[in-house]
Amino acid sequence: MNKTCDVIVLGAGAAGMMAAATAGQRGRRVVLIDHATKLAEKIRISGGGRCNFTNLNVRPECYLSQNPHFCKSALRQYTQHDFIALVESYGLGWHEKTLGQLFCDQHSGAIIDMLKAECERGLVTWRMGTAVAGVRHEGGQFIVEAGEEVWQAEALIVATGGLSIPQIGATGIGYDIARQFGLNLIETAPALVPLQLPPESLLAEISGVALEDTIASSGKTRFREASLVTHRGLSGPAILQISSFWQPGGEIVLDLAPECDLDEFFATASRDAHVGNVLGELLPRRFIDAWLDEEMRTRPLKQLSPKQVSALKEKLRRWVLRPSGSAGYKKAEVTRGGVDTQALDSKTMMAKAVPGLYFVGEVVDVTGWLGGYNFQWAWSSGHVAGLNA
Ligand code: FDA
Repeated sequence: MNKTCDVIVLGAGAAGMMAAATAGQRGRRVVLIDHATKLAEKIRISGGGRCNFTNLNVRPECYLSQNPHFCKSALRQYTQHDFIALVESYGLGWHEKTLGQLFCDQHSGAIIDMLKAECERGLVTWRMGTAVAGVRHEGGQFIVEAGEEVWQAEALIVATGGLSIPQIGATGIGYDIARQFGLNLIETAPALVPLQLPPESLLAEISGVALEDTIASSGKTRFREASLVTHRGLSGPAILQISSFWQPGGEIVLDLAPECDLDEFFATASRDAHVGNVLGELLPRRFIDAWLDEEMRTRPLKQLSPKQVSALKEKLRRWVLRPSGSAGYKKAEVTRGGVDTQALDSKTMMAKAVPGLYFVGEVVDVTGWLGGYNFQWAWSSGHVAGLNA
């Protein structure tokens, strides 16, 4: 059956719902199509069920992209404060957890309900559980075969996300559409993802042990947050953050005691105490037992040569690791890379060479840090496309 509207939005996730609501509230007739039966599953599972919906410190430097300037316009047109105002207008409470990260007081479903209500205000038509068989462009119209219907519109907003968490519906359709229309793609990779370690560095026996204060670095990029030992390697916020910058084959370096002046610490430590007990003041005992060999751990500090003390300080300050890989798209919070921003107008998110075709959210080569930055990109990019489509 053929249907006509003004704007077709593919993907009813964070960016797609925002785009659909914005376009609908401008009076555009919008259809929102998704193959999943449930709306915005990633919002539902985000932030441990509380949705870390934005960050007070959003700024362009918190995003990775081949063009670091690309995100500026959208982030300026629709800021974190705009989204906070929307949340508050629905009577939802929020709180800052740490580092500017804002979480919902209610369950993350409240954010989905809010976006759904915004779409309803814009009289958006829904087509959930609807597979998209193909997209064509004929006579200035985009034609989308979706389930039993064929939708036609002068604007198409692609908001189908990245490849992360295929188990809840992620597909590469957005990249396929970009390719079909001749847009360049930046190679994708899992990001904000646990890292795996080779057998010689694994501490699997203490999986679950957290190091509350660490600095993870890769090249010049550093993040100071907690790290977590896992069965296969490392996770935790510092590791997830640095994973977005890590390249296969490369190193990461962990400072295990950033707050501590190690020279002073060792100078004032009890000379008779065993090394393991001395380090127990800095790090969880279980970690030390797995991380340091027994011979070193059980020696009194006074038996260590100055060279050995220096080596210990160096290992605490710079634990150098060469991950064997990442946990992949199944565990990645986001996908790095995607539709090349060179192909898009940063003010509108429209493809420069294909009038009426827009890409928003994670499908675009803009990847935020951990901490609400990715949702803010979805809201901002979705909003500007909705204003222009
Ligand atoms: P999103 O993935 O949300 O939506 C894409 C939609 O397209 C989906 O509904 C999907 O079903 C649909 N789709 C895909 N293929 C299709 C096809 N072939 N046909 C039709 N529809 C199709 N970020 C943050 O800022 N704060 C947080 O707290 C978290 N927490 C978090 C936890 C976990 C576990 C994950 C996996 C991710 C996060 N994120 C996050 C990241 C955040 O979820 C992500 O950046 C946004 O959801 C991206 O929004 P999009 O709308 O671009 O894609």
